[in-house]
Amino acid sequence: MKLKGRLAVVTGGAKGIGMEICKSLASKGARVIACDMGEMTYQFDNVSYYPLNITDVDGCKKFFDETVEKYGKIDILVNNAGITRDSMTRKMTDDQWNLVLDVNLKGAFNMVRLIGPHMEATGGGSIINISSVVGVFGNIGQANYAATKAGIIGLTMTWAKEFARKGVPVRVNAIAPGYTMTDILKTVPQDLLDQFAQMTMLKRLGQPEEIAKVALFLASDDSSYITGQTIQVDGGMRL
Ligand SMILES: NC(=O)c1ccc[n+]([C@@H]2O[C@H](COP(=O)([O-])OP(=O)(O)OC[C@H]3O[C@@H](n4cnc5c(N)ncnc54)[C@H](O)[C@@H]3O)[C@@H](O)[C@H]2O)c1
Repeated sequence: MKLKGRLAVVTGGAKGIGMEICKSLASKGARVIACDMGEMTYQFDNVSYYPLNITDVDGCKKFFDETVEKYGKIDILVNNAGITRDSMTRKMTDDQWNLVLDVNLKGAFNMVRLIGPHMEATGGGSIINISSVVGVFGNIGQANYAATKAGIIGLTMTWAKEFARKGVPVRVNAIAPGYTMTDILKTVPQDLLDQFAQMTMLKRLGQPEEIAKVALFLASDDSSYITGQTIQVDGGMRL
């Protein structure tokens, strides 16, 4: 029970990769709050649901105040909530661009500007940002998404520096998953998914549990000397 006594917040924790991260942290003893604007799709011991749209600045503040009031300290934050609105750049609308930036990039910022300083003031913590291989390699039809996922890597390095400045162990790392079997891939045609699988060294897509295992490692003291890093969990992908 390496996370016993720790409180973890996971955005987008109602399903997909976020759900597996919540289960994995809770199974190691953490009390976990799944913040999501969608409905909770499962029940698991020590995982509770908090309805939150991470683009809502006031909502994030209310969540933060209530959580600190109730539990005292937040030890782990996983910025996992994310969306896609794919289109070729020449056809991409302002709405598609703005929404993806607002959720994937500003949403993480909304949470970290509250929880980062809180961790610094309370003695430490671990922040894990979910990026993507698309933020590392780029991808046709995903200019908005690629910009946010590359931005998350820049934020990870920046926050790792900012929140450790006073010598308090706040660690900030990112995971860049490859194509992983969740609902987010529902809009991607099967033949394209098959092609993506062939582009990996392991010749298959990922499972959400395989991302959650790395999140658990980064959340726990097992990774106590790792910060500012992006770990690609993609089966050896080259896009
Ligand atoms: N599945 C993949 O292939 C893959 C690959 C690389 C990166 N990722 C990233 O992993 C993360 C999780 O993706 P997933 O595949 O589990 O997707 P998913 O669509 O299954 O789950 C995303 C969750 O985020 C929630 N969410 C969306 N917008 C929100 C908002 N504004 N506020 C609060 N919650 C919100 C949704 O309700 C949903 O529960 C995302 O950041 C995604 O970009 C996924």
